Amino acid sequence: MLEVKGLSKDYGGLRAVDDVKFALQPGDVFGFIGSNGAGKTTTIRMLATLLEPTEGTASLNGCDILDDPMGVRRQIGYMPDFFGLYDDVKVWEYLDFFATIYSVPGRQRPKVIDDVLELTNLTGKKEAFVQTLSRGMQQRLCLARCLVHDPTLLLLDEPASGLDPRARAELKELIAELGRMGKIVIVSSHILPELAGFCNTVGIIERGELLAFGPVDQIVRQVQVARILEARILDRAGEAASMLCGVPSVASVAPIDEQKLRIEFHGSLDEQADLLSRLIATGFRVVDFRELEANLEDVFLKLTTGAVN
Ligand SMILES: Nc1ncnc2c1ncn2[C@@H]1O[C@H](COP(=O)(O)OP(=O)(O)O)[C@@H](O)[C@H]1O
Ligand SMILES: [Mg+2]
Repeated sequence: MLEVKGLSKDYGGLRAVDDVKFALQPGDVFGFIGSNGAGKTTTIRMLATLLEPTEGTASLNGCDILDDPMGVRRQIGYMPDFFGLYDDVKVWEYLDFFATIYSVPGRQRPKVIDDVLELTNLTGKKEAFVQTLSRGMQQRLCLARCLVHDPTLLLLDEPASGLDPRARAELKELIAELGRMGKIVIVSSHILPELAGFCNTVGIIERGELLAFGPVDQIVRQVQVARILEARILDRAGEAASMLCGVPSVASVAPIDEQKLRIEFHGSLDEQADLLSRLIATGFRVVDFRELEANLEDVFLKLTTGAVN
């Protein structure tokens, strides 16, 4: 498990990261979202033991980043936002080099290399020179080299930047697979839709502060002022709308078409159930009544608007 305990970082007079706390369990895929300059890279570099915190610390499976940085490094795979690959090196040689650095025993290296190539879908490129790979493949190779020592925590700093949609989709699938393998994955992005969908946990950072942290739906609920319900009523939808307008926890009702109503609702789940009972008891023929999927992007904008230039 990863426990981040009040991490802060000052650059001169600037507090780039301010008292960030959260915890993640094996299998968690954490989307670390924030605008440019919000403090994502600084946080990740502290977790990678490459940058000393001004205050606070973190521990990974009992190893503290301050007291036992080497113990932490053995357990992490860090993919920086900008990375270079070596030219004139074949894909397998590149991985063999990193496996050696991470003291993977010589006998095990060929199998480890084959395994990470398969996982990152690069088996066919084993003998290729790294400079001949596409950007998406280079990104996957960089991820492959982060995996040779079977780390428990992966720190991926904006891994999808500069990738085309297809390469992004492949990367997402790969990241989800790492979560299913029981690793903790931290993946940062300044583009929220990039992370929605495959992260089970999100955190929103702005000006160094973690404004929200938790399961995606919980975060949305926490920030959202109203839930949006949609009802489809076979006839007399207009009358139903008038009735709904009189309910205190209904903020507004708008017709979508002849049968459908969009209801902005502030009440609890119990009150939501009561609302449906009442429609039916009054004789309205309801064929659909549901909560529209909350939009994480709206939540993000609501939390962060204008806080960073
Ligand atoms: N080495 C540094 N020296 C001074 N300020 C820095 C340094 N690195 C980052 N910063 C500042 O710290 C803040 C957070 O930066 P960073 O962690 O890179 O954000 P993000 O990765 O979310 O874009 C920004 O205001 C940035 O300008
Ligand atoms: Mg960054």
